[in-house]
Amino acid sequence: MLKRIAVMTSGGDSPGMNAAIRAVVRVAIHEGVEVWGIYNGYAGMYEDKMVQLDSRSVGDILQRGGTFLGTARCEEFRTTEGRQRAFENLRRHGIEGVVIIGGDGSMTGAELLSDLGIAVVGLPGTIDNDIWGTDYTIGFDTATNTVVDAINKLRDTASSHGRVIVVEVMGRNSGWIAMTAGLAGGAEHILIPEISVNLDELCEKLRQSHDSGKKYSVVVVAEGAGSAVEIGKKIVDCSGLDTRVSVLGHIQRGGSPSVFDRILASTLGEHATLALISGISNVMFGSRSGGVVTIDLADAIGHKRTIDPSMFRLANLLSK
Ligand code: F6P
Repeated sequence: MLKRIAVMTSGGDSPGMNAAIRAVVRVAIHEGVEVWGIYNGYAGMYEDKMVQLDSRSVGDILQRGGTFLGTARCEEFRTTEGRQRAFENLRRHGIEGVVIIGGDGSMTGAELLSDLGIAVVGLPGTIDNDIWGTDYTIGFDTATNTVVDAINKLRDTASSHGRVIVVEVMGRNSGWIAMTAGLAGGAEHILIPEISVNLDELCEKLRQSHDSGKKYSVVVVAEGAGSAVEIGKKIVDCSGLDTRVSVLGHIQRGGSPSVFDRILASTLGEHATLALISGISNVMFGSRSGGVVTIDLADAIGHKRTIDPSMFRLANLLSK
Protein backbone atom coordinates (compact mmCIF):
# COMPACT_ATOMS: atom_id res chain seq x y z
CA MET A 1 0.00 0.00 0.00
CA LEU A 2 1.47 3.33 -1.11
CA LYS A 3 1.37 6.22 1.36
CA ARG A 4 2.32 9.22 -0.79
CA ILE A 5 1.46 9.72 -4.46
CA ALA A 6 1.50 12.60 -6.96
CA VAL A 7 -0.63 13.67 -9.90
CA MET A 8 0.25 15.70 -12.98
CA THR A 9 -1.03 16.70 -16.41
CA SER A 10 1.16 16.61 -19.49
CA GLY A 11 1.06 17.41 -23.21
CA GLY A 12 -1.75 19.47 -24.73
CA ASP A 13 -4.45 20.36 -22.21
CA SER A 14 -7.96 18.98 -22.59
CA PRO A 15 -11.31 19.76 -20.94
CA GLY A 16 -11.83 17.33 -18.06
CA MET A 17 -8.22 17.23 -16.89
CA ASN A 18 -9.23 19.26 -13.82
CA ALA A 19 -12.03 16.80 -13.07
CA ALA A 20 -9.50 13.96 -13.23
CA ILE A 21 -7.05 15.73 -10.89
CA ARG A 22 -9.90 16.43 -8.45
CA ALA A 23 -10.89 12.75 -8.46
CA VAL A 24 -7.31 11.59 -7.84
CA VAL A 25 -6.80 14.02 -4.96
CA ARG A 26 -10.07 13.34 -3.19
CA VAL A 27 -9.98 9.55 -3.62
CA ALA A 28 -6.39 9.44 -2.33
CA ILE A 29 -7.25 11.56 0.70
CA HIS A 30 -10.32 9.43 1.38
CA GLU A 31 -8.01 6.39 1.42
CA GLY A 32 -5.67 8.10 3.90
CA VAL A 33 -2.95 8.64 1.29
CA GLU A 34 -1.00 11.91 0.93
CA VAL A 35 -1.18 13.43 -2.55
CA TRP A 36 1.06 15.97 -4.25
CA GLY A 37 0.51 18.01 -7.40
CA ILE A 38 3.33 18.41 -9.92
CA TYR A 39 3.18 21.66 -11.88
CA ASN A 40 3.69 21.79 -15.68
CA GLY A 41 4.02 18.05 -16.28
CA TYR A 42 7.45 16.49 -16.72
CA ALA A 43 9.00 19.98 -16.64
CA GLY A 44 7.80 20.46 -13.05
CA MET A 45 9.01 17.01 -12.12
CA TYR A 46 12.44 17.90 -13.52
CA GLU A 47 12.48 21.38 -11.94
CA ASP A 48 11.09 20.15 -8.62
CA LYS A 49 7.88 22.21 -8.81
CA MET A 50 5.52 20.17 -6.67
CA VAL A 51 3.38 20.77 -3.59
CA GLN A 52 1.16 18.79 -1.31
CA LEU A 53 -2.55 19.13 -2.14
CA ASP A 54 -5.62 18.84 0.06
CA SER A 55 -9.32 18.60 -0.71
CA ARG A 56 -9.64 22.39 -0.85
CA SER A 57 -6.80 22.66 -3.40
CA VAL A 58 -9.11 21.07 -5.97
CA GLY A 59 -12.27 23.01 -5.09
CA ASP A 60 -13.97 25.04 -7.85
CA ILE A 61 -12.10 23.36 -10.72
CA LEU A 62 -14.51 20.62 -11.82
CA GLN A 63 -16.31 22.93 -14.24
CA ARG A 64 -13.19 24.58 -15.65
CA GLY A 65 -11.39 23.65 -18.87
CA GLY A 66 -7.59 23.54 -18.98
CA THR A 67 -5.58 22.18 -16.06
CA PHE A 68 -4.92 24.11 -12.88
CA LEU A 69 -1.62 22.24 -12.47
CA GLY A 70 -0.44 23.56 -15.84
CA THR A 71 1.14 21.50 -18.58
CA ALA A 72 4.24 21.75 -20.76
CA ARG A 73 6.45 19.86 -23.12
CA CYS A 74 9.85 19.07 -21.56
CA GLU A 75 12.98 18.50 -23.66
CA GLU A 76 15.13 17.58 -20.64
CA PHE A 77 12.86 14.64 -19.78
CA ARG A 78 13.74 13.09 -23.14
CA THR A 79 17.30 12.53 -21.87
CA THR A 80 18.43 9.82 -19.43
CA GLU A 81 19.99 12.46 -17.14
CA GLY A 82 16.82 14.54 -17.19
CA ARG A 83 14.65 11.59 -16.23
CA GLN A 84 17.08 10.61 -13.46
CA ARG A 85 16.91 14.12 -12.01
CA ALA A 86 13.09 14.08 -12.18
CA PHE A 87 13.03 10.69 -10.49
CA GLU A 88 15.36 11.88 -7.72
CA ASN A 89 13.11 14.88 -7.05
CA LEU A 90 10.19 12.51 -6.56
CA ARG A 91 12.22 10.25 -4.30
CA ARG A 92 13.40 13.16 -2.16
CA HIS A 93 9.78 14.04 -1.45
CA GLY A 94 8.99 10.41 -0.62
CA ILE A 95 6.60 10.10 -3.57
CA GLU A 96 6.06 6.42 -4.35
CA GLY A 97 3.73 6.61 -7.33
CA VAL A 98 2.41 9.07 -9.93
CA VAL A 99 -0.86 9.41 -11.84
CA ILE A 100 -0.03 10.91 -15.24
CA ILE A 101 -2.86 12.44 -17.25
CA GLY A 102 -2.05 13.13 -20.91
CA GLY A 103 -1.79 11.91 -24.48
CA ASP A 104 0.36 9.25 -26.14
CA GLY A 105 3.64 11.15 -25.61
CA SER A 106 2.82 11.46 -21.92
CA MET A 107 2.14 7.71 -21.69
CA THR A 108 5.54 7.04 -23.29
CA GLY A 109 7.12 9.31 -20.65
CA ALA A 110 5.21 7.42 -17.95
CA GLU A 111 6.70 4.13 -19.02
CA LEU A 112 10.22 5.55 -19.12
CA LEU A 113 9.73 6.96 -15.64
CA SER A 114 8.53 3.63 -14.30
CA ASP A 115 11.73 2.01 -15.62
CA LEU A 116 13.59 3.99 -12.94
CA GLY A 117 11.63 2.24 -10.21
CA ILE A 118 8.54 4.26 -9.39
CA ALA A 119 4.91 3.16 -9.74
CA VAL A 120 3.08 4.92 -12.57
CA VAL A 121 -0.53 4.84 -13.73
CA GLY A 122 -1.83 6.71 -16.80
CA LEU A 123 -5.11 8.39 -17.69
CA PRO A 124 -5.82 9.24 -21.36
CA GLY A 125 -6.24 13.01 -21.57
CA THR A 126 -6.28 14.57 -25.04
CA ILE A 127 -8.89 16.02 -27.36
CA ASP A 128 -7.53 13.88 -30.21
CA ASN A 129 -9.02 10.51 -29.12
CA ASP A 130 -5.97 8.84 -30.60
CA ILE A 131 -4.89 6.55 -27.76
CA TRP A 132 -5.14 2.83 -28.31
CA GLY A 133 -7.14 0.75 -25.84
CA THR A 134 -9.82 3.24 -24.86
CA ASP A 135 -12.97 4.20 -26.77
CA TYR A 136 -12.73 7.76 -25.49
CA THR A 137 -10.04 10.07 -24.15
CA ILE A 138 -10.80 12.79 -21.60
CA GLY A 139 -11.62 15.99 -23.51
CA PHE A 140 -12.64 14.50 -26.85
CA ASP A 141 -16.38 14.80 -26.19
CA THR A 142 -16.16 18.46 -25.19
CA ALA A 143 -13.92 19.30 -28.15
CA THR A 144 -16.21 17.59 -30.66
CA ASN A 145 -19.21 19.41 -29.17
CA THR A 146 -17.31 22.68 -29.66
CA VAL A 147 -16.66 21.73 -33.29
CA VAL A 148 -20.30 20.78 -33.90
CA ASP A 149 -21.41 24.09 -32.40
CA ALA A 150 -19.07 25.87 -34.82
CA ILE A 151 -20.35 23.82 -37.76
CA ASN A 152 -23.94 24.75 -36.85
CA LYS A 153 -23.01 28.42 -36.96
CA LEU A 154 -21.04 28.09 -40.17
CA ARG A 155 -24.02 26.32 -41.74
CA ASP A 156 -26.20 29.36 -41.07
CA THR A 157 -23.95 31.69 -43.00
CA ALA A 158 -23.07 29.11 -45.68
CA SER A 159 -26.79 28.60 -46.28
CA SER A 160 -27.49 32.34 -46.52
CA HIS A 161 -24.77 32.84 -49.15
CA GLY A 162 -24.93 29.47 -50.89
CA ARG A 163 -21.26 28.85 -50.19
CA VAL A 164 -18.86 26.03 -49.59
CA ILE A 165 -17.33 26.27 -46.12
CA VAL A 166 -14.12 24.39 -45.41
CA VAL A 167 -13.59 23.87 -41.67
CA GLU A 168 -10.21 22.76 -40.34
CA VAL A 169 -10.23 20.89 -37.04
CA MET A 170 -7.46 19.59 -34.77
CA GLY A 171 -6.47 15.99 -34.16
CA ARG A 172 -2.79 15.93 -35.07
CA ASN A 173 -2.40 12.74 -37.18
CA SER A 174 -5.82 11.41 -36.27
CA GLY A 175 -9.19 11.89 -37.95
CA TRP A 176 -11.38 11.16 -34.91
CA ILE A 177 -12.44 14.75 -34.25
CA ALA A 178 -13.18 15.41 -37.94
CA MET A 179 -15.05 12.15 -38.43
CA THR A 180 -17.17 12.40 -35.29
CA ALA A 181 -17.98 16.10 -35.56
CA GLY A 182 -18.51 15.67 -39.32
CA LEU A 183 -21.11 12.95 -38.76
CA ALA A 184 -22.81 14.83 -35.90
CA GLY A 185 -22.69 18.12 -37.79
CA GLY A 186 -23.90 16.72 -41.12
CA ALA A 187 -20.81 17.64 -43.13
CA GLU A 188 -21.06 16.93 -46.85
CA HIS A 189 -17.42 15.81 -47.01
CA ILE A 190 -14.92 14.73 -44.34
CA LEU A 191 -11.19 14.61 -45.05
CA ILE A 192 -9.09 12.59 -42.62
CA PRO A 193 -5.46 11.45 -42.71
CA GLU A 194 -6.44 7.78 -42.51
CA ILE A 195 -8.27 7.82 -45.86
CA SER A 196 -6.80 9.51 -48.91
CA VAL A 197 -9.05 11.66 -51.09
CA ASN A 198 -8.57 12.87 -54.64
CA LEU A 199 -9.19 16.63 -54.51
CA ASP A 200 -10.22 16.77 -58.19
CA GLU A 201 -12.92 14.20 -57.49
CA LEU A 202 -14.00 16.19 -54.41
CA CYS A 203 -14.36 19.31 -56.57
CA GLU A 204 -16.36 17.38 -59.14
CA LYS A 205 -18.73 16.06 -56.46
CA LEU A 206 -19.20 19.53 -55.00
CA ARG A 207 -19.87 20.98 -58.45
CA GLN A 208 -22.38 18.26 -59.31
CA SER A 209 -24.25 18.50 -56.01
CA HIS A 210 -24.53 22.30 -56.27
CA ASP A 211 -25.65 22.00 -59.93
CA SER A 212 -28.34 19.55 -58.90
CA GLY A 213 -29.77 21.85 -56.23
CA LYS A 214 -27.63 21.56 -53.09
CA LYS A 215 -27.65 25.03 -51.62
CA TYR A 216 -24.40 24.92 -49.66
CA SER A 217 -21.75 22.46 -48.45
CA VAL A 218 -19.63 21.96 -45.38
CA VAL A 219 -16.26 20.24 -45.81
CA VAL A 220 -14.56 19.20 -42.57
CA VAL A 221 -10.79 18.76 -42.85
CA ALA A 222 -8.69 17.13 -40.14
CA GLU A 223 -5.44 19.09 -39.77
CA GLY A 224 -3.53 15.87 -40.46
CA ALA A 225 -5.25 15.56 -43.86
CA GLY A 226 -4.12 18.93 -45.15
CA SER A 227 -4.53 22.67 -44.83
CA ALA A 228 -8.08 24.02 -45.13
CA VAL A 229 -6.66 27.19 -46.68
CA GLU A 230 -4.96 25.18 -49.44
CA ILE A 231 -7.96 22.94 -49.95
CA GLY A 232 -10.28 25.97 -50.07
CA LYS A 233 -8.10 27.54 -52.81
CA LYS A 234 -8.15 24.30 -54.76
CA ILE A 235 -11.97 24.13 -54.55
CA VAL A 236 -12.27 27.68 -55.86
CA ASP A 237 -9.82 26.96 -58.70
CA CYS A 238 -11.35 23.72 -59.89
CA SER A 239 -15.04 24.25 -59.17
CA GLY A 240 -15.51 28.01 -59.23
CA LEU A 241 -17.83 27.73 -56.22
CA ASP A 242 -17.95 30.60 -53.74
CA THR A 243 -15.84 29.20 -50.88
CA ARG A 244 -14.75 30.34 -47.43
CA VAL A 245 -12.38 28.78 -44.92
CA SER A 246 -12.53 28.58 -41.13
CA VAL A 247 -9.63 27.21 -39.08
CA LEU A 248 -11.04 26.53 -35.60
CA GLY A 249 -7.68 26.22 -33.81
CA HIS A 250 -7.25 26.27 -30.04
CA ILE A 251 -10.86 27.16 -29.31
CA GLN A 252 -11.32 23.38 -29.54
CA ARG A 253 -9.07 22.84 -26.51
CA GLY A 254 -10.91 25.13 -24.10
CA GLY A 255 -14.28 25.39 -22.45
CA SER A 256 -16.16 23.84 -19.59
CA PRO A 257 -16.01 20.03 -19.85
CA SER A 258 -19.15 18.19 -20.95
CA VAL A 259 -21.03 15.90 -18.58
CA PHE A 260 -19.53 12.93 -20.45
CA ASP A 261 -15.97 14.17 -19.92
CA ARG A 262 -16.57 14.98 -16.24
CA ILE A 263 -17.96 11.50 -15.58
CA LEU A 264 -15.21 9.81 -17.62
CA ALA A 265 -12.49 11.79 -15.82
CA SER A 266 -13.98 11.19 -12.37
CA THR A 267 -14.51 7.47 -12.92
CA LEU A 268 -11.12 6.80 -14.47
CA GLY A 269 -9.50 9.02 -11.82
CA GLU A 270 -10.99 6.91 -9.05
CA HIS A 271 -9.91 3.61 -10.64
CA ALA A 272 -6.39 4.85 -11.37
CA THR A 273 -5.88 6.14 -7.83
CA LEU A 274 -7.14 3.01 -6.10
CA ALA A 275 -4.98 0.85 -8.38
CA LEU A 276 -1.85 2.94 -7.82
CA ILE A 277 -2.33 2.98 -4.06
CA SER A 278 -2.70 -0.81 -4.04
CA GLY A 279 0.67 -1.15 -5.79
CA ILE A 280 -0.44 -1.59 -9.43
CA SER A 281 1.83 0.07 -11.97
CA ASN A 282 2.52 0.41 -15.70
CA VAL A 283 -1.13 0.50 -16.73
CA MET A 284 -3.49 3.05 -18.21
CA PHE A 285 -7.17 3.16 -17.39
CA GLY A 286 -9.65 3.59 -20.22
CA SER A 287 -13.26 3.15 -21.20
CA ARG A 288 -14.49 0.39 -23.45
CA SER A 289 -18.15 -0.36 -24.23
CA GLY A 290 -19.15 1.81 -21.29
CA GLY A 291 -16.98 -0.02 -18.73
CA VAL A 292 -13.61 0.79 -17.19
CA VAL A 293 -10.69 -1.25 -18.53
CA THR A 294 -7.02 -1.61 -17.66
CA ILE A 295 -4.52 -1.45 -20.50
CA ASP A 296 -0.80 -2.19 -20.19
CA LEU A 297 1.11 1.01 -20.87
CA ALA A 298 3.28 -0.89 -23.34
CA ASP A 299 0.16 -1.85 -25.33
CA ALA A 300 -1.31 1.65 -25.25
CA ILE A 301 1.96 3.07 -26.56
CA GLY A 302 2.76 0.22 -28.95
CA HIS A 303 -0.47 0.25 -30.97
CA LYS A 304 -1.88 2.83 -33.32
CA ARG A 305 -5.50 3.83 -32.75
CA THR A 306 -7.42 3.50 -36.00
CA ILE A 307 -10.65 5.23 -36.96
CA ASP A 308 -14.03 3.50 -36.94
CA PRO A 309 -14.71 2.72 -40.64
CA SER A 310 -18.44 2.19 -40.05
CA MET A 311 -18.78 5.69 -38.63
CA PHE A 312 -16.94 7.14 -41.62
CA ARG A 313 -19.13 5.16 -44.03
CA LEU A 314 -22.31 6.37 -42.29
CA ALA A 315 -21.17 9.99 -42.35
CA ASN A 316 -20.67 9.72 -46.13
CA LEU A 317 -23.96 7.92 -46.69
CA LEU A 318 -26.00 10.48 -44.72
CA SER A 319 -24.40 13.47 -46.39
CA LYS A 320 -25.80 12.70 -49.85
O1 F6P B 1 -2.82 16.92 -29.11
C1 F6P B 1 -3.74 17.94 -28.94
C2 F6P B 1 -3.55 19.03 -29.97
O2 F6P B 1 -4.52 20.02 -29.76
C3 F6P B 1 -3.58 18.57 -31.43
O3 F6P B 1 -4.88 18.34 -31.91
C4 F6P B 1 -2.85 19.68 -32.11
O4 F6P B 1 -2.25 19.25 -33.30
C5 F6P B 1 -1.80 20.07 -31.10
O5 F6P B 1 -2.27 19.63 -29.82
C6 F6P B 1 -1.50 21.54 -31.00
O6 F6P B 1 -0.45 21.72 -30.12
P1 F6P B 1 -0.03 23.14 -29.52
O7 F6P B 1 -1.06 23.52 -28.50
O8 F6P B 1 1.31 22.91 -28.94
O9 F6P B 1 -0.05 24.11 -30.66
